[in-house]
Amino acid sequence: MPDDSPRPNSPEARDAASIIHPLTNLKTHLEKGPVVIDEGKGVWVTDIHGKKYIEGMAGLWCLSLGYGQDRLVKAAADQMARLPYYHLTNHKSHSPVIELAEKLLEMAPVPMSKIWFANSGSEGNDSAARIVWYYWHAKGQPEKRKIIAHQRAYHGNTIASASLSGMHYNHASFGLPLDGFLHVTPPHHYRYAESGESEEDFATRLADELDALIIAEGPETVGAFFTEPIMGSGGVIVPPPTYYEKIKIVLDKYDMLLISDEVITAFGRTGNMFGTTTMGLKPDMIVCAKGLSSAYIPISALMVNARVFDVISEESDRVGVFGLSFTYSGHPVAAAVARETLRIYEDEDIVGHVRAMDPHFQGGLRELLDHPLVGEVRGMGLVAGVELVKDKATGEAFDPALGVGPFCNDRAEEHGLIIRAIGDTMSFCPPLIISKDEIEEMIARFRLALDDTMEMLQERGVK
Ligand SMILES: Cc1ncc(COP(=O)(O)O)c(C=O)c1O
Repeated sequence: MPDDSPRPNSPEARDAASIIHPLTNLKTHLEKGPVVIDEGKGVWVTDIHGKKYIEGMAGLWCLSLGYGQDRLVKAAADQMARLPYYHLTNHKSHSPVIELAEKLLEMAPVPMSKIWFANSGSEGNDSAARIVWYYWHAKGQPEKRKIIAHQRAYHGNTIASASLSGMHYNHASFGLPLDGFLHVTPPHHYRYAESGESEEDFATRLADELDALIIAEGPETVGAFFTEPIMGSGGVIVPPPTYYEKIKIVLDKYDMLLISDEVITAFGRTGNMFGTTTMGLKPDMIVCAKGLSSAYIPISALMVNARVFDVISEESDRVGVFGLSFTYSGHPVAAAVARETLRIYEDEDIVGHVRAMDPHFQGGLRELLDHPLVGEVRGMGLVAGVELVKDKATGEAFDPALGVGPFCNDRAEEHGLIIRAIGDTMSFCPPLIISKDEIEEMIARFRLALDDTMEMLQERGVK
């Protein structure tokens, strides 16, 4: 076995000696160390040894305009020089955040009243959960505070947003979720449908499941439902066509708020400016982050409709102030970068580009269905998941202990492609500016990784 542990005093060894990494096996990392990325241009990144990779995940589903956007650098530098900081508390404001809020309200996929700013998707969802509680309290129903989300959802990692999330790793050993956060079956037909069940029947069954859960808990105790229009970190799950229609009927029946977590899907990713439009949602609040600034700087925005705002506004008057606050809410440099990002989306017709690339990307990945490892390819626009399975005919999954997904991930990296294994689903979320040639190159490199994975499984007698 070659020793691939970091050389003493290398950046890799210094990293392992000094940093706790998120979503990483901390023990393995001590021996394995990181890939240290040095620079980026377009959809490409280069590590400190000069190796180039296609950044097939836009970082963490976020770097939508790719690297080297000089307009964003200039927007940040100009704002840094003019007014690097001001806050929004106690009746203060500044022009960049006003312009950004107005623009977001103009772009909103359903009528929205006001924007609440924070620094991350987690804080956006956390704020939304807090606003749900505040809202029902103000309405004289303080007990209507339970919140339902999906198993396998990823809504972030503050205590509330990790509780909203439905990923095992967010909860295990942390004593989460908090009481009052409930989870229903994800709308993934391929994995969760019963034998012979149509998409329509599957959607009906899941809506019935939601209804039954609300009844069991007591509708007077259940305040809201959070959903990602297309689930990202849970494995790129695209709900069946009538799913949200059926869910909305249940939510309306029990007078519940709907929150659309668009942290991945907003700003063109699914082929519309918002995933809410793509999936036909009618939410009361929408959470945006990541693509809001193309990840050049941390910022998130929570859109709040008039139904909610009018109530929380009255309540803040009763309490004295609206008691949510972050020092960096609507930070001027972040707001200026986000405003410029939104201009670039329009100037470059990013939605048109995603639609033009969709057939090459989704079609190209679907051609991989001829590969003996590929069970399902799913996605929309420029986000997709390719699920590797033991048995294509039945969809039988591999034993997780085999680590098929992580192996394929490592092989892709060896071939100069950064993607992300979610179990055995290989996820893709490239920068939205990716070209047709780059898509073809990305898929060709992925096929090499698939072949390597197949070879490993054959050697081990598994396939
Ligand atoms: C759908 C969704 N919501 C929320 C978050 C959390 O965002 P952040 O990491 O900026 O806190 C993420 C992050 O991946 C996400 O994918």
